[in-house]
Order: sequence, then C-alpha cells, then structure tokens
Amino acid sequence: MPEIESVLHETRTFPPSEAARKKARLSSLEEYERLYRESIDDPETFFGREAKNLPWIEPFESVLDWSGAPFAKWFSGGKINASAVALDQHLGTPVENKIAFLWEGEPGDTRAITYVELHEEVCQLANVLKGRGVKKGDRVALYMPMIPELVVAVLACARIGAAHSVVFGGFSAHALRERIEDGGCSAVVTADGGYRRGEPLPLKPQVDEAVRGLKAVHTVIVVERCENDIDWNADRDLWYHVAVSEASADCPPEPMDSEDTLFLLYTSGTTGGPKGIQHTTGGYMLGAYLTCKYVFDMQEDDVYWCTADVGWITGHSYIIYGPLSNGVTSVMYEGAPNSPHEGRFWELCQKYGVTIFYTAPTAIRTFMRWGEEHPGKFDLSSLRLLGTVGEPINPEAWMWYHRVIGGERCPILDTWWQTETGSIMLTPLPGITATKPGSATFPFFGVDAAVVDEEGKEVGPNEGGFLVIRKPWPSMLRGIWKNEERYRETYWSKYGDKYFAGDGAKRDEDGYFWIMGRVDDVINVSGHRLSTMEVESALVSHDSVVESAVVSRPDDVTGEAIVAFTTLGPGIEDGDELRSTLMDHVATQIGKLARPAEIRFTDALPKTRSGKIMRRLLRDIASGRETTGDTSTIEDLSVLAKLRGDE
Ligand code: WT7
Repeated sequence: MPEIESVLHETRTFPPSEAARKKARLSSLEEYERLYRESIDDPETFFGREAKNLPWIEPFESVLDWSGAPFAKWFSGGKINASAVALDQHLGTPVENKIAFLWEGEPGDTRAITYVELHEEVCQLANVLKGRGVKKGDRVALYMPMIPELVVAVLACARIGAAHSVVFGGFSAHALRERIEDGGCSAVVTADGGYRRGEPLPLKPQVDEAVRGLKAVHTVIVVERCENDIDWNADRDLWYHVAVSEASADCPPEPMDSEDTLFLLYTSGTTGGPKGIQHTTGGYMLGAYLTCKYVFDMQEDDVYWCTADVGWITGHSYIIYGPLSNGVTSVMYEGAPNSPHEGRFWELCQKYGVTIFYTAPTAIRTFMRWGEEHPGKFDLSSLRLLGTVGEPINPEAWMWYHRVIGGERCPILDTWWQTETGSIMLTPLPGITATKPGSATFPFFGVDAAVVDEEGKEVGPNEGGFLVIRKPWPSMLRGIWKNEERYRETYWSKYGDKYFAGDGAKRDEDGYFWIMGRVDDVINVSGHRLSTMEVESALVSHDSVVESAVVSRPDDVTGEAIVAFTTLGPGIEDGDELRSTLMDHVATQIGKLARPAEIRFTDALPKTRSGKIMRRLLRDIASGRETTGDTSTIEDLSVLAKLRGDE
C-alpha cells in the first residue's frame, strides 16, 4: 500500500519553444544532465567552481564539511559579505549605472535607483546603525512596507554583519514582539506606514506596542512614507531620512565568515511558536545567485519582477540577493494587485517591459476569478519567462497562466522550495525542460531529491510518498534559532540522514516530480491516503470552479470524509444541482473514492498572508469544532466568520 495514493494523471506536455531554447544559458538537455550528475557525484568540483564567481574577500579552503551533520559547513575559511556580493562587485563595471530597482508605490509615485545609488544609501544606513551601537553578530528587526528603504535596510544589516530578521508588515504587534524577543533584536527599522488598497496602513504604532518594556531594543529607525500621525520617543526613535542624510557614505563591508549568520526568518510550524530559520552567508548567496542565473536565466537586458513581499523568503532570495548579485534590473511594487484596478500588475508589466515574472498560484487563481479582460487590456509581449511558487499549482491555473499571461509563448517555471531550503530546489530550466502542468519537474544542481515511504525506501513511479533531500546543499538552513532540538526533530528525526521536507510527492514514469501538498493535509478515506491537492485539481478542472480547498472531517464509515470548500467563477450560480454535478465530476476524474461527501460554496477561502490556504481552520469548520490554534496569520478574519455562518 503506497503512503499516498496518486489518483490524478496529467498527460499534457509542453516542449521548450525554439525561442526559449535560443535565448537560454544552457544549450541542451544533455548539458543540464552532465552538470547535474557532476553536482551530485562531485559537489566539491561543481560548487567549488561555481562559488569562484562570487567576490570572496578571502578565498575558501574547503567546499563542504558535513562531519557535523545535520549542520553543514560550506566554503569554510572563506570571507565574504552579502551586501558586497549584491552591490560592490558591480562598482566600476557597466552595471553600476544600471537601474537596480524600478519602484512603484501604490499611489503611483515612482523611484528608479541605480546600483551606485543603492550602494551609497546602504553605506549611509549602515553607518547610522553603527552609530547607534549595532555591531557584527547583533540582530535587527525590519518591519516595513514594500519600499526601497526595506532593501536598503536588509543590505545595511548585511554590510555591518548584523543579522536581519524581516517581519512581514501585515503581522500584528503581538507577532512582531514574539519575533523580536525570540531573535534578541536590539534595533528595529520601520516606517510610519505603507499604502495598501488606497489607504495608509500604520506600522509605527505596532512597533511601539511590540517593543514596550523591551529594554534590549534601544533604537527604532522610522522611514517617513505616509505622513500619518505617530507617537515619538526621542530617546529611542530617529527619522530615517534625517539620520541617513547626515551619515557618511563610506562604510567598508564587514568581512564575514562564510558560515556567519546572514539572517533569521520566522516561519510557522504546525505546532509550537514560529521557528527562526537561520541562514548563513556564503552558501546562501551561492544558492540565490545560481538559481537566478540558471532558473530565471537572468541576462543583461532583462527586466525582472517578483511580486512577493520581502517579508517572505521569496523576497529575500528573489527580490534582493539573487537579482542584485546577477546585476539585473527589477521592478518592485508596494501595493495590492487590485489597487486602483484589477489590471494593475499587467499595467506595470507593460509600463516597464517586464521580461521575467514570478508570482504565486494563489495570485494566479485570483486573476482567473477577476477575469481575462484585465490582462487583455495590456501589452504583455515583453514577457519571456513566467514563474510560480508557494503551493502546488493546479493544472487549470497553470494552463490559464500559460495561455492568458504567457501568450502560449513563455516557459512556466513551477519552482518548489521552502524558507528552509533558501533557494529553488525543484524546477524546470527554460529552454531545456519539457514542462507538464502541475509538475515542478526536476531537481536543481546539487539537489538529491527522492520520494520515499515510511521506512525511507524509494517508492515506484506514480506512487505517492514523502519528499526528502539526501545530500546537503549550499543554501540549506543551518538551524532553528536557539533551538537545536527542534531543528533535529522537525527535519532530521524521521529518517536520520535525509532532510524531511514535510511535503507529499510522487515521480511519474518520466521521473518528473509532482508535489502533492503538506503531509499533514493528507486525507484518509477508507484506508486510502489521498492528496488534497489532487482532489482540488479535479474540482478546479470543472469550468464553473476557480478555487477549492479540500479537507477531511471524521466519518463513522470511511474514517474520514472529504469536504470541499469551493469558489465559483464570475457569474456562476451555486445550488444543489451544481453541487451534485461537481461531486460526479470528481468521481469521474479520480474515482468514486474521492467523491466529496460535502461541497460548500464560498466567496473566499481563509489564507495566510503569504497566500496559503489554511486547511487547519477549514478542518475545524468542516467538523463543526471551535476554531483552535493560531489565527494570527490569517489574511481576512471575516472570511472565517462567513464560512462558519456567523455572519
Ligand atoms: C512550502 C514552503 C519557497 C517560497 C514560498 C513558500 C509549498 C512551495 C511549491 C511548488 C508545490 C510548493 C510546499 C513547501 N510549496 N512551492 N512550486 N509546488 N508546493 O515558502 O512558506 O517556506 O513554504 O510551500 O508545501 O513545503 P514557505
């Protein structure tokens, strides 16, 4: 009996287009296979060679030391500074006067910053931090909107060797305090507020509340963004613009050991408080740099846009460190995708001539719901590559992205990775990989991925199991901050020698990887373990459905029964007839076994602020339980109330 039964079989295949093949960095599938083999069989040579492309202050003495497993050491003896990788290496080259960020505020204000200008501001803020006594080894919390000053703050911390801990601006004061305390932060960089759907969203008041009584926090630096009224503590607070304008722009980068901590980033676990995922310098920078080079195929003339928030790992690796180390021009946008209208993203793609676009499945499904007419109003012909990350992408959403946004011309890069992995792990390569809708395809260089059963034995083709990584990789997490036990327990206790990702997966007969969702979400109907993702995809493949979240509730007969929360497309009426049509549809697509016992129609699903569906809450609702556990990351609490029928 397989660990997870895979019941959905997608057969469409999209070979790389001639145009993508011509433009791409790698010339053939054979070249990829040769490099991949080398990266697995001889990581010392592969990564030793690739790492030489980074500007080391002092060269490394060894490539990998895994003797202290599960704590890896990459590039020992090497000295490097992440802000110098991002910026200083471009000074004196043609990149220095190139635009690093084309920033667009939600209200429509703009700022274009060149590499040399960004370097100058980073040095100034680094000196401000130093002047306040922040030093190498300290931690600094950043709680900011999506403005250029957030990039400056990240790089200023890196420059002086203080670890940054970015806390997403949508988190509450309570969540912020928890993270500041756990990380032992001594300073906070924030803003008076940021714009979100046309309104200033205050941030400084949350910081005031979060640090109340915390003696360790001696400094709060405040960017003036919205000019909303805020309280001021003259002993502790300083205005960013005042302090930076008075600071010297001379600040040599601190030579950091390759294994010195670059940042902490908190991510929530199934149980317990948030985990401070710890990343170090050399290996992380190599992962971010290399994946941008090979996966996004970043080239001199590209205009790249990752729509994530810097508050998530995607923003760290694919807005800041990866793109900057490749010297590319990026778009950065402050606001919501529907402000002031539902075509805002496409308007920006047209305005800036975006060539590479990276977003999340949840966003794509939202765009589907808003309708094709919005992207249809804009010229998207500059796009050449489309990426997705964050959740399994249903084949229907993939097809929509391919057709409506990509004009059937752009390879879709379905990139699987995690906060913990630091950079992309499973992904197609443009011009090389034939893609299949819903598959993250193959491992990136150095990634020894496999699908195994409970005992750690590799499962056969099309059998579902647990996704593991069998070898250390440069950008892997180095621990959970101050919690070695939890690190070992969460990722290494199940198999001992393999990294346990916590995702269900299968490989098909061609070796393609298909992610089937978090293993905690697997549903057991009459002893068959089904992936929520596959049942959801079956529902979404029906014309009337745009999004669905599938969970289980206890059932006397089958053990668990399937409950599907379902959002319909524009103008589609719900009702009992459609309900039974959809139940039959799933039964025909997958089999009677997967026929939902219940379908509930809803306008919206509860999501985390990073866009993941909160199945835990839906399970509570489906079982008629009181909602338990942490709801601090839920995007819109009114959604919950509606689903429960409180409103
Ligand atoms: C989890 C990690 C990595 C940046 C954003 C999320 C899910 C992520 C995919 C994908 C299927 C995916 C997994 C993973 N996930 N990308 N392409 N296909 N699932 O980071 O918050 O650390 O979440 O997101 O379940 O374990 P994160």
